[in-house]
Amino acid sequence: MDRIRIKGGNQLNGEIVISGAKNAALPLMIASLLTSEKLVLDNVPALADVKQLQKILANHGVDIKINANSDDMGGQQISFHASQISDTCAPYELVSAMRASFWVIGPLLARMHEAKVSLPGGCAIGTRPVDFFLDGLKALGASIKIEDGYVIAKAPKGGLRGNRVCFPKVSVGATHTVMMAAVLANGTTIIENAAREPEVSNVANCLVAMGAKISGIDTHTLIIEGVEKLHGANFEVLPDRIEAGTFAMAVAMTGGDVLLKKGRVQDLQAAADVLIDAGVDIKQERNGFRVKANGAGLRPINVETDVFPGFPTDLQAQYMALMTRAAGEAHIKETIFENRFMHVAELARFGADIKIDGQNAIVNGVPQLRGAQVMATDLRASVSLVIAGLVADGETFVSRIYHLDRGFERLEEKLGRCGADIARISD
Ligand code: EPU
Repeated sequence: MDRIRIKGGNQLNGEIVISGAKNAALPLMIASLLTSEKLVLDNVPALADVKQLQKILANHGVDIKINANSDDMGGQQISFHASQISDTCAPYELVSAMRASFWVIGPLLARMHEAKVSLPGGCAIGTRPVDFFLDGLKALGASIKIEDGYVIAKAPKGGLRGNRVCFPKVSVGATHTVMMAAVLANGTTIIENAAREPEVSNVANCLVAMGAKISGIDTHTLIIEGVEKLHGANFEVLPDRIEAGTFAMAVAMTGGDVLLKKGRVQDLQAAADVLIDAGVDIKQERNGFRVKANGAGLRPINVETDVFPGFPTDLQAQYMALMTRAAGEAHIKETIFENRFMHVAELARFGADIKIDGQNAIVNGVPQLRGAQVMATDLRASVSLVIAGLVADGETFVSRIYHLDRGFERLEEKLGRCGADIARISD
């Protein structure tokens, strides 16, 4: 198994190109199931999760071609052609590795009027149930049974029927899924308390480019008028705000001056504001945003994760790593997932002082972290260990980095080009 070795202490300077967003690319790929015509996606990141979803889609009969790869960091262009759906079952072996693969249930049900999808797996950050998905699909008339770990869904005769769906809590995945189901339903669907994360808007805009009728994009209420058919389109995956926020925190940690090309501050304003309050300089430029910091004297700023436009849960671990070096005490509250503090025990190996009390973490900054042997536990937690390693005194080894490969494209190369001493080693 590969590990990452980091020698801490170098500042970061230069440019990093932000890849396409994993959490938009995955549902955009799934949207290809909605049409018999070709969906061509640009700026698709080369990630393990993208490859896994390619396998799942291929199993449904989607013809997938990589037209251009990302050697120049420009992102892949991949075409998806679901001229026929040969299988409406998404089996456990393929779905269990990644929660987002469960979302195929929406388009399969909409287009094929049936789906059998294994209950999902994914990062161990909480129980992550699927009740909102199932209640939403039932509201559109689907019958749902759960048998042997599979959800078996059937649309009523004539297909799904538009209806009002009100989610009890904002859910990104349930919004994607019900939106994709509703675009081909008979009549109008109103999704209330919908997620309005930029990735949801990216997918909604792609569906519109494919002929769907959706209004209320970027708000918590989506109104979807069902259409009979969708057609092909060419669409670009938006830049990854979580990758951009992660590198911004890395620069805040080490000090330096890095232009995050393609990065958009407006997609992570809450996190940018926190970094600015902590003493980091962030400026949007024409082709990205620039992060400058001197690597010392960070002010401790309290943070509570929230749905968009709040501070993203997907940056909580990285921010905690950053606050281990702040001059004082920072309180971090995780409100989205109940078990997303697994990085705390690993950060402690660097000498960090963090106490957990339920949903709250209290981080007391220390003057210096020490290099350590640590283990990645989930995607975002693992990159927080890399950030800590970048300033730790001595060598850090991060093991189980397959978590990292699920969501960060060429992390070592991107950081290495900016001066980090970081390498992937195979034992
Ligand atoms: N929830 C339910 N029932 C449901 C669905 C969700 O109770 O049926 C709860 C969840 O347990 C959680 C909350 O609702 O407490 C929000 O979960 P959400 O459904 O929004 O999360 P998700 O769709 O599973 C996506 C991202 C996550 C990101 C969250 C929150 C993708 C592929 N995943 O997950 O990203 O943390 O939204 O923004 O888009 C990551 O990239 O590392 C990652 C975990």
